[in-house]
Amino acid sequence: MSVSQSAVHLINHLGRDYLRQALEHDVHTGLTSTPKWLPPKWFYDATGSELFSQITRLPEYYPTRRELAILREHAGDIAVRSRADTLVELGSGTSEKTVLLLDALTAAGTLHTYTPVDVDAITLADAARRLASRYAGLTVHAVCADFEQHLTLLPRTGRRMVAFLGGTIGNLDPAAREMFLKELRTTLRRGDTFLLGADLIKDTDRLIAAYDDAAGVTAAFNRNVLHVINRELDADFEPDAFEHVALYDAEHNWIEMRLRATRDMHVRVGDLGLHVSFEAGEEVRTEISAKFRPDDLRRELVAAGFEVNHRYIDSTGDFSLFLASA
Ligand code: SAH
Ligand code: TRP
Repeated sequence: MSVSQSAVHLINHLGRDYLRQALEHDVHTGLTSTPKWLPPKWFYDATGSELFSQITRLPEYYPTRRELAILREHAGDIAVRSRADTLVELGSGTSEKTVLLLDALTAAGTLHTYTPVDVDAITLADAARRLASRYAGLTVHAVCADFEQHLTLLPRTGRRMVAFLGGTIGNLDPAAREMFLKELRTTLRRGDTFLLGADLIKDTDRLIAAYDDAAGVTAAFNRNVLHVINRELDADFEPDAFEHVALYDAEHNWIEMRLRATRDMHVRVGDLGLHVSFEAGEEVRTEISAKFRPDDLRRELVAAGFEVNHRYIDSTGDFSLFLASA
């Protein structure tokens, strides 16, 4: 599938059949495991992306504001160091923070192409159109793809900077993170750079509040995965019968998001011919969000074959950006 209009091109590697198979596989595997789990990328349909966008504006959710502060201060330096002509952004969502990088790369005079990559085709296409009209002369090659599956399909031309912001790296478990970093490294060539945003270990109460806000937006976001399964796989989850749980695992240094059944339930997933029972109090793990010590993350980057050129930490010590090169 390929739609193009003026400077916006949209390539979709996630056709209906692919998405369906992947969702069926993940839901079947996760809901028949003990304990049960569901993979996080299915949070992000159009509703999920909108809820995440609301999360980024919550008083408790500091990562977006901290990462923005770092970009406001250092985007110029990052642009000059990378001298990228192509910005590839993984998990780009609404691309709100990206304008700081695009402004800086435009000012540095090197940029000609922006390639946002996301699983949510709707939010991706909106962002692509918005940015193409904001930057005259910028070609936007939006790619709807799964960054855990399709890194090798991304465009390989130009001097690229791959940005992976928002702390999304923390949503991969350690084994998946290691694979992701190694795979990404093999797709990069000399002169290409990698800009990685990662959330740092901090006071547990603040961490938990960021994933369990008073207004209940994160709870709605968490339950959205059940709405997605109901709609896409003809299931009959009652999302409101599940309670949102956010806890901090101090051994692994990650936030865990769970959905807890408030009573005994039987759920039918029609399209899978699957019946799943929940006992009152039983929890389904839906997401981890790992928090890092800067030195540990540096080591992981080096182990994956990157050279770490620069590390930016905001003045409160909450969030970090790493600039690495191939
Ligand atoms: N970069 C933005 C959005 C972060 S939210 C920010 O920093 O605010 C995570 C984004 O990654 C969402 O837009 C989600 O749709 C996307 N995403 C999650 N898993 C993905 C995957 N496996 N492949 C591609 N995109 C993914
Ligand atoms: N990458 C974001 C993070 O880990 C995604 C996120 C924010 C998230 N809030 C969430 C994922 C709540 C699941 C549930 O911070």
